[in-house]
Amino acid sequence: MGRFYATTPIYYVNDAPHIGHAYTTVTGDALCRWRRLQGDEVFYLTGTDEHGLKMLRAAEAQGISPKELADRNSARFRQAWDELAIDYDQFIRTSEARHYQAVQRFLQAVYDNGDIELRTYEGLYCVACEAYYAEAEVVAVEGQELGNCPVHGRPLEVLTEENYFFLLSRYQERLLDWYGRNPGAVYPETRRNEVLAFIKGGLQDISMSRSSFRWGVPLPWDERHVAWVWFDALPNYISAAGYGDDPDFFQRWWPPAYHLVGKDIIRFHAVYWPAMLMSAGLEPPRCVAAHGWLLVGGEKMSKTSLNQIAPADLVAEFGVDGFRYHFLRDSSFGPDGDFSYEGMVNRYNADLANQLGNLFSRVATVVARKCGGTGSRPQSGSPLQQAAAEAVAGATAGWAKPAPSEALEATWKLVREANAYLEANEPWKAEPGPALDSVLGDALEALRIVSLLAWPAIPAAASEIWRRLGLPGAPADQRLPEAASWGGYPGGLQVEKGQALFPRLSV
Ligand code: ME8
Ligand code: MG
Repeated sequence: MGRFYATTPIYYVNDAPHIGHAYTTVTGDALCRWRRLQGDEVFYLTGTDEHGLKMLRAAEAQGISPKELADRNSARFRQAWDELAIDYDQFIRTSEARHYQAVQRFLQAVYDNGDIELRTYEGLYCVACEAYYAEAEVVAVEGQELGNCPVHGRPLEVLTEENYFFLLSRYQERLLDWYGRNPGAVYPETRRNEVLAFIKGGLQDISMSRSSFRWGVPLPWDERHVAWVWFDALPNYISAAGYGDDPDFFQRWWPPAYHLVGKDIIRFHAVYWPAMLMSAGLEPPRCVAAHGWLLVGGEKMSKTSLNQIAPADLVAEFGVDGFRYHFLRDSSFGPDGDFSYEGMVNRYNADLANQLGNLFSRVATVVARKCGGTGSRPQSGSPLQQAAAEAVAGATAGWAKPAPSEALEATWKLVREANAYLEANEPWKAEPGPALDSVLGDALEALRIVSLLAWPAIPAAASEIWRRLGLPGAPADQRLPEAASWGGYPGGLQVEKGQALFPRLSV
């Protein structure tokens, strides 16, 4: 039994949730569910990032206050996560009082440590990133005086301000030392190399306050300034963990096992944030795990792109489990992945309708016709026993990496082998008797184990299979690896065929 604290980015509330946000949040949810199955105590955090210039401008454009816009859109994120069966433990909003308290305490600690200094600054700013860029990073554009943001491809603006600076340059050696001692602290390897190269390239001090607007957390030592939105956003991970108001809770949970993020915000999480934490005397996160971008037609999907796809529309069509399964199985964690509707339909039909759905319905049909609906027990030494053990090992390795697509690939190998086993033995043609009972018992046991291993990805269908097998309780109450060892299906239970678990879709 351990403790497992995992986080998603807190999303900007200038617009609605899209499938890019859902991808990160579903991945974190599945990882947390896997840990719950191990008996770990889990803390899964998500939330919304509500301050900054981008929010202020979006609210102005809509003629409402930033708080109103934040209330409205934060609720949409929460609703989206409910629709996707995201079992988060806390939803933090940066406009909450406890967050202000934590940020102020945290920044005061950094200030007291001598790592913050007042300077005048003029720089190239991307409002979408809420960040300054150095000349060398800017993408030059023909006929345009100021270049474009390297992330958003939109024109940068010149901002001149008297700002407080965080003396990041002091942390170059300490960060390199930290990453040298903690090789797993950025995942995957390619991102780690990128982060190390960036640090070795030399770290500049960074502006960490704004005085041209008030929509933010005031600096405790100089109330004319609010914290730069990233210096307000990153500490959400400590404020939700009780840094400002619950030291015992904080002690229990800090540092997190994973900050799950997209590659767009790796620098903030793997360079700025650990340095800030070190300055405040806190431990950096154990791992920043950064996935690639979901692309539509080769372009990054973002709030400003035309390729907006609302999670709810896909859920209406594929179901919650169909949605979750697609994003966990089809994109490997790390590289960019192309999202396509056809790909989603094909994956759903192949793995969910034709493999898992079909396996369950074949077995339940024969049990109903030939065994009066009573499921039999598996044989020890069954040909599927080895396949089940391999699935457990493969799923365990995959979720631990984390590589959800590999975990699910290993799990579905057992589904396919169980289907092949039925095709080889043709129980639908067999006479009732011990031979038939063994084949069915083996297949029922394979389904029981699959429903455990697949539960993190497809919680509704996995729980439904468990229930229809006649098993007491639910996958959620089981403990791995014991619960997944061969022979757990007791037999003598009533199996319920029910409706198709995953009705086939046409493209
Ligand atoms: O950056 N593909 O918020 P944000 C994959 N508030 N993931 C995507 C994606 C895509 N096309 N688009 C978005 C912020 N994401 C800050 C974070 S954290 C202290 C503050 C996901 O609303 C991915 O996780 O722009 C990415 O990092 C995040 O949404 C950015 O969300
Ligand atoms: Mg963004």
